[in-house]
Amino acid sequence: MNTILSGIQSSGSLHIGNYFGALRQHIQMQEEGEAFYFIANYHSMTSIQNGEERLKNTIDIALDYLALGLDPTKCSFFVQSDVPQVTELSWILSNFTPVSRMEKAVAYKDKVSKGEKANVGLFTYPILMASDILIYNADLVPVGKDQKQHIEICRDLAGRFNNTYEDKLLKIPEEYTVESVAVVPGIDGRKMSKSYSNTIGIFDEGKELKKKVMSIETDSVPLDEPKDPESCNVFALIKLFADEEQQKEIADKYRAGGYGYGHAKNELLGMINEYFAEARERRKELAKDLDLVRDILNEGGKKARKRAEKVMKPIREVTSLYKNYRFSDD
Ligand code: ADP
Ligand code: TRP
Repeated sequence: MNTILSGIQSSGSLHIGNYFGALRQHIQMQEEGEAFYFIANYHSMTSIQNGEERLKNTIDIALDYLALGLDPTKCSFFVQSDVPQVTELSWILSNFTPVSRMEKAVAYKDKVSKGEKANVGLFTYPILMASDILIYNADLVPVGKDQKQHIEICRDLAGRFNNTYEDKLLKIPEEYTVESVAVVPGIDGRKMSKSYSNTIGIFDEGKELKKKVMSIETDSVPLDEPKDPESCNVFALIKLFADEEQQKEIADKYRAGGYGYGHAKNELLGMINEYFAEARERRKELAKDLDLVRDILNEGGKKARKRAEKVMKPIREVTSLYKNYRFSDD
């Protein structure tokens, strides 16, 4: 059975780009193998220093995932920092990482090119991500297109480690993975991303949601005239929610004229409300029982540590770091 592994960073509330680019696949794939999903709170430290904020984000993301259908009886769902073996392996791997490999990594390069200050955590972020993957012997890593380079780095580092020692201890995950949707546009037409403040939250509701949908940027073709659905941000979002028949119907209305962007936005609003209605209710219920959420994460953490320790032990041996210590619950 394949081991499936993915993580999502706890650095803000999740948006529909995250849903269609990552969460939806994670939830589908829990049926297809032994799945490990975690909330990457260590990774969030590259940008968030405030602990309370991190904790709130962590719980929020746990609620989001569970409300959207992640089933803790079918997968291990946990918090990254509950598996200390991850940072242990990360240090070891960093000694197999050429500095030049990290200098070419996009997350770091982007930040530096925008003139922002980057910390060493951001610089070595891909090494920690490689450890996240390798410590569970993952076969498949469902992530969005923007993470492709990180998976390549992971494969590269695992290869370098394996080539140094006789036992091939690290399993190299398959080259970049699942079918993925196109990049979801934000309300300004750029990639939807919390760093651009152009997101529509999965759990936005009421006036807040309406305001965001109504502010999606469009061109200024007048209401009466025919419009091109394929170049419209509103239609790009409609496509995510509508079945083929509905998509065709709406595209025809665009092309016929007499159908304005306001009409399209109202249709989109209705679709978002309908699509996430059940998850919203489930989230409200779950939020009343945070102890249950913590129990789920603790259980997931135990299962993940067990797997991680199995992978880590021979690595300590082969690198002569082995000290025969164990964690009490392993
Ligand atoms: P953000 O850009 O908002 O910071 P993240 O980088 O934390 O989002 O992305 C988390 C996951 O969601 C990644 O797997 C990423 O590929 C996916 N994702 C993020 N934004 C989009 C988008 N606009 N379209 C498709 N997938 C996305
Ligand atoms: N870097 C990923 C993102 O921003 C999150 C992540 C951290 C991850 N560790 C991972 C994803 C391991 C997959 C596997 O989306």
